[in-house]
Amino acid sequence: MSLLRRTREGYARAYGVEPDGVVFVPGRVNLMGEHVDYNEGLVLPMPISAGTAVAWGPGDGHLLEAVALDLDEARDSFDPGKVAPHQPVDWRSYLRGTTAALAESGLARGGVRLAIAGSIARGSGLSSSASVCVAIGRALAAAAGAETSVETLARAAQSAEHDWAGVRCGIMDQMAVAAGEAGSALLLDCADLAHRNVPMPGEWAVMIVQSGVRRGLVDGHYNRRREDCEAAARALRLPSLRLATVEDLQSDRFDPVTARRARHVVDEIDRVRQAVTAIERCDIVAFGELMRASHASLRDQFEVSEANVDRLVDLLNETIGNHGGARMTGGGFGGAVVAVLPLSQTARVRARIAADYAPPSGAPLEIMVEQTGRVLAGECE
Ligand code: GLA
Repeated sequence: MSLLRRTREGYARAYGVEPDGVVFVPGRVNLMGEHVDYNEGLVLPMPISAGTAVAWGPGDGHLLEAVALDLDEARDSFDPGKVAPHQPVDWRSYLRGTTAALAESGLARGGVRLAIAGSIARGSGLSSSASVCVAIGRALAAAAGAETSVETLARAAQSAEHDWAGVRCGIMDQMAVAAGEAGSALLLDCADLAHRNVPMPGEWAVMIVQSGVRRGLVDGHYNRRREDCEAAARALRLPSLRLATVEDLQSDRFDPVTARRARHVVDEIDRVRQAVTAIERCDIVAFGELMRASHASLRDQFEVSEANVDRLVDLLNETIGNHGGARMTGGGFGGAVVAVLPLSQTARVRARIAADYAPPSGAPLEIMVEQTGRVLAGECE
């Protein structure tokens, strides 16, 4: 059954009436620009076909009521004007955090019922939480009859992560899922949120393979990497590493670890610029080289990869050859790997991964192929 239909039916089952509407917000895979968004850098994520659906309709009184269809139909209910944090962090933290941020600007109100369902595995590195938050925001705004900008929705979703889930994430995921277009990458400048879609050539496929290692950003590694970057910027007396150059990094003001973190950020921002050029020139060989360089830097300089992820990336790179490439994607420490390859090669690569990669602890192998397709086939000839 489709996600939209499942969500609509779940709403009707939970509340005994049909919803007024259903919104869908995708997840994202990041193609280039990892761990640079909170350094005010450039990023290149792409929305994916999996995502979150939220059905909405009127409720009684001043309460906001919600049901999580995928979590045993767990419920939450509160007054949006008086929201209290939920501990430990779970889906209610995201619901309450997003609602609180939007209620402040009059974009969320009570007397609303929501039913939430999704098709992105949590902890897979594909932005399930940003997708949930932005979808809740869109549904609340629709129920309030209010217009919202993608920036307002993205900021509300980010504040749910910062203030309600304790993850000091950047703004990439929220902007990618709120502003991205299917089949295109989104070039986003995290310094001022300027963005534009970069259509992906129709001959390229984006393959996402789950390593089977569950990742969690709430365990502190992520926030520590951010602190390392902030320390590097302070040492250079810069507001952020966005403004640092390779020459700045020769400075003896750094300890070796901070120097490695900063080097990754400076190089990765440059790789995003080069990746956009490679897409626009349909140069999959150049794009593949950038992906391999990005992975090596995340593994050796930023140290956010993991042994199974490295094994999977190596296997993909070896199988794909030089027409494309693979890297880890998202926050790291497990989760998904992304590969860009010619569409014509997907069956061969998929078969090889299925034969030679076994996710740890018996997790099932999950491979998704996102077709780009906004540009008609033939564009790259
Ligand atoms: C997570 C965060 C993002 C970003 C990535 C790493 O997905 O939510 O803000 O920092 O990690 O690029």
